Amino acid sequence: METKQEQQIILTGDRPTGRLHLGHFVGSLRRRVELQNSGRFDAVNILIADDQALTDNADNPGKIRENIVNVTLDYLSAGIDPEKSTICVQSQLPALHALTFYYMNLVTTARLSRNPTVKAEIQMRGFADEGLPAGFFSYPVSQAADITAFNANVVPVGEDQLPMIEQTREIVEKFNRTYGETLIMPKAMIPENETQRRLPGVDGKAKMSKSLGNCIYLSDDPKTVKKQINGKMYTDPQHLRIEDPGHIEGNVVFTYLDAFCTDAHFAAYLPQYANLEELKDHYRRGGLGDGTCKKFLIQVLEETLSPIRENRAKWEKDLDTVYDILAEGTKRAQIITGETLSRVQKAMRINYFQDRTIIKDWEKQLKAAKM
Ligand code: TRP
Repeated sequence: METKQEQQIILTGDRPTGRLHLGHFVGSLRRRVELQNSGRFDAVNILIADDQALTDNADNPGKIRENIVNVTLDYLSAGIDPEKSTICVQSQLPALHALTFYYMNLVTTARLSRNPTVKAEIQMRGFADEGLPAGFFSYPVSQAADITAFNANVVPVGEDQLPMIEQTREIVEKFNRTYGETLIMPKAMIPENETQRRLPGVDGKAKMSKSLGNCIYLSDDPKTVKKQINGKMYTDPQHLRIEDPGHIEGNVVFTYLDAFCTDAHFAAYLPQYANLEELKDHYRRGGLGDGTCKKFLIQVLEETLSPIRENRAKWEKDLDTVYDILAEGTKRAQIITGETLSRVQKAMRINYFQDRTIIKDWEKQLKAAKM
């Protein structure tokens, strides 16, 4: 089996720990749909990383099971097309478990403990005090298994995932050096601009997070979206009266407009401005109220959210098809990842029962021992 160097293959994924929000959409989902539709890729694989999610939810597999369908519904509603992309479930791909176990031997615990994303997550979860699950500590190794098993050379992810790709590249390098050229070297593909890399929560905190209650979910109804924006969205605390000059930096309304609005939105809803620059200028000068900007933002977001919401409503009525999509995608993924595992075991010469020539080796070895 030769490696497939010349193919353009994507693997990306999410942990199914909750519904997907605008941060996921801006940071990755929107772009996945574009990449899927670009025709530039031989394969687009999307992994629902339920095993990875279990590494810090071992006591609550029910939460992960529930969110497998939520994440799938979010994918399908946002435009992931099962005819073009393979959506699959990690835990049902046993080759990934075997690969993880082999790769564990190619990294040191010292190296794993330097991963800045994992370090931050350990802090956040309080694992430093209450004990760190070995599975959580080593999940970057399992992510290397995910990426290499699909022969992916392109991994579109958010910035926080760069340490995982770096770790994967080191494992690939070490594997190929130790056992011969076998695995594809992957590259991360991260969003070009700052806003896409990290959409802040509505309260202005660095990240959308369920526990902070600062998310707008793709499946939120219009009333909830409006409430999050009108009730919670952080603007400029110094902009007290409409006449006051306002600040754009750190003003979440403008951050979101940067991420979502186009000139066409101005033509449709705020024709007195040609584009976002004109709106920002007015805000800076003074005389433009937050209410006007928020109302516009709600209209802009609804253009993205309402089709997704409608799609979701349809898919929710057809869970049999959703099930089949996951089962089909997972079946396809079992074949691909199984082939990689065979290639890996062959490279390591531990494919004992694929190849009877090992008997010849045994005979030789026994004879040599007698001499
Ligand atoms: N760690 C990723 C996240 O938390 C999810 C993930 C698991 C992933 N396996 C992957 C992403 C492989 C890209 C490629 O979002």
